[in-house]
Amino acid sequence: MAQVSGIAEERSTTPLSSRKSVTLRITRYNPEYDNEKTFMEFNVPYEKWTTVLEAILEVKKHFDHSVAVRYSCRQATCGSCGMVINGKPRLACFTKISELDSDVVTVEPMNNFPIIRDLTVRFERLFNSHHKIKPFLIHEDSEISSNEKEFLQSPEELEQYIQFSNCIKCGLCNSACPTMATDSSFVGPQALAQAYRYVADSRDKGKDSRLKIIDESHGIWRCHFAGSCSQVCPKGVDPAMGIQFLRGYLLGFKS
Ligand code: SF4
Ligand code: FES
Repeated sequence: MAQVSGIAEERSTTPLSSRKSVTLRITRYNPEYDNEKTFMEFNVPYEKWTTVLEAILEVKKHFDHSVAVRYSCRQATCGSCGMVINGKPRLACFTKISELDSDVVTVEPMNNFPIIRDLTVRFERLFNSHHKIKPFLIHEDSEISSNEKEFLQSPEELEQYIQFSNCIKCGLCNSACPTMATDSSFVGPQALAQAYRYVADSRDKGKDSRLKIIDESHGIWRCHFAGSCSQVCPKGVDPAMGIQFLRGYLLGFKS
């Protein structure tokens, strides 16, 4: 197993003797050349604040720069660093090694996405589904061009959808969804949650067209309400609840 040094030594005030270390198992896989995934193991020192992303970057810096990982903001905002960490989809920059409570941390690419290499996956399906539900406020042209109308909203109206607008499109919910694994055309919890976000917005006039888009064989009715999407969302969005609310509109219980 490779030994990695780095973050802990550069920033730490903790004596070397009391520092902890973890076995970091990183998936290595290139679909162009490999038949199956393999794992490389590294012994990585960590502090209580060290994130999984920082540990992976230490491996890249000190041992193997070829590990493929995607990240940008490092603060749970851009949605780039989703991966499966010890069996659960999580943001690597938002997951501390110490909170995993394990001597071994295994990182794998997200499920239900085609793998580019190692920990990176293709997002086309997620973005295509997101675009499909028209993720923007829809108005009559005359309302927008008049330059006179304000689109006011009460706090109660805002409350109807505000949590859904926190989505960062990280894809963790789609990765956790069992229906995404079995139906390659399923629109997915991320897009359905965003459909609800706009349908429930009192300023929007696109409800009927959005409901029509999701009311099809690979749309909202394929959800079996496993609820795993809502369990993994790092931003507190509850796609499973949004899906139930959308069904309420389609079944005539909500207007
Ligand atoms: S709903 Fe949550 S888990 Fe799904 S893409 Fe948005 S932020 Fe990520
Ligand atoms: S790097 Fe942006 S969400 Fe993790």
